Amino acid sequence: MKSEKLIAKSVREIKPSGIRKFFDIASGMKDVISMSVGEPDFVTPWNVRQAAINSVERGLTHYTSNSGLPELRRLIREYLNDRYDVHYDMNDILVTVGASEALDLAFRALIDPGDEVLIPAPSYVSYEPGVKLAGGVSIPIVTEEKDDFVIKPENIEKVITEKTKLIIIPYPNNPTGAILDKEDIIRLQDLVLKHDLFVIADEIYSELTYSRMHQSFAEGFEDRTVLINGFSKAFAMTGWRLGYAAGPKEIIQAMLKIHQYTMLCAPISSQYAGVEALSSEMNRDYSQIREMVRSYNRRRVFLVDSFRSMGLPCYEPKGAFYVFPNISPTGLSSEDFCTKLLLEKKVACVPGTAFGESGEGFIRCSYATSMLNLEEAVKRIRDFIGGLN
Ligand SMILES: Cc1ncc(COP(=O)(O)O)c(C=O)c1O
Repeated sequence: MKSEKLIAKSVREIKPSGIRKFFDIASGMKDVISMSVGEPDFVTPWNVRQAAINSVERGLTHYTSNSGLPELRRLIREYLNDRYDVHYDMNDILVTVGASEALDLAFRALIDPGDEVLIPAPSYVSYEPGVKLAGGVSIPIVTEEKDDFVIKPENIEKVITEKTKLIIIPYPNNPTGAILDKEDIIRLQDLVLKHDLFVIADEIYSELTYSRMHQSFAEGFEDRTVLINGFSKAFAMTGWRLGYAAGPKEIIQAMLKIHQYTMLCAPISSQYAGVEALSSEMNRDYSQIREMVRSYNRRRVFLVDSFRSMGLPCYEPKGAFYVFPNISPTGLSSEDFCTKLLLEKKVACVPGTAFGESGEGFIRCSYATSMLNLEEAVKRIRDFIGGLN
């Protein structure tokens, strides 16, 4: 029997990630500047690494409770309360293997076959496959540059059916860098109530905002929201695989049921690192995070200005660490632009289409890389565009 026939239909039908594709091509080439992967170039702060080392030295090498260390969940509760005025009981918080696992658990706990899930587009690459693997149907809600890539309630109204169950609210957004303001949130919350929907809010970039403090969708809306966040982005901890979900008790218990049979718990040393990351930042008024954000901000401003000076319209991102310039004036498709740029100038970006069809005409450039790299990348992109005319 051909082994591909053994692969489940739902898995056969999902495409490999368009981000990884460009990253993999780039990693096989020399002298490439990569703006393709969304992970901080900062190393995890030393005090956090030290806490994990200490935990290993003390012999803390076992499983934790399935939900996660009580100390960590207490801190997450305090952090959400202190930072975003969001209130969940510590027993309604589940520590997961990255925000990625939290998303997967939420999909599997909430989706029955055929349930429709509304997903702003363009959006993070994992939502659509995650929904499909859980048996759901993704319904994209296109967001546009002219609306600051904010999801419009009237566009949601048009696609709601009796099968619509969930809406993903992914702000600050990857890849656009869009955020929601209070009025947007209120309008969307009204719509959620009107149609009796439930929300999965992916707020993994909540600490990385540039125009103002993040406003959580879960604030005052805790009973309708599974809030997903984690340590990867704000604490420069991608490799530790530490995230969490907070939500209504019954839903977190359902997610816990899957988690205890599949993952058991997040790695214990990562959880001790997380305790240190949260407690030290809370004690120093988030100054280490603010320092990183200041650095990202310098790069953000540089990239937006650079793309605009090349004649490419570029939405000014308000959060995360990506710019999403409009490359349609070049006449190239997103995929062609990125392929040619990589092969001819050795700069790796991601085609907007990796984030859904509505990303056609855009590319995503991560500025989580050094200013030196960004300056060289901009020089090469300028040359590339100059060569097209
Ligand atoms: C919007 C979004 N959600 C979730 C994740 C996954 O985060 P984690 O590393 O915590 O699994 C990412 C990673 O790039 C992301 O961009």
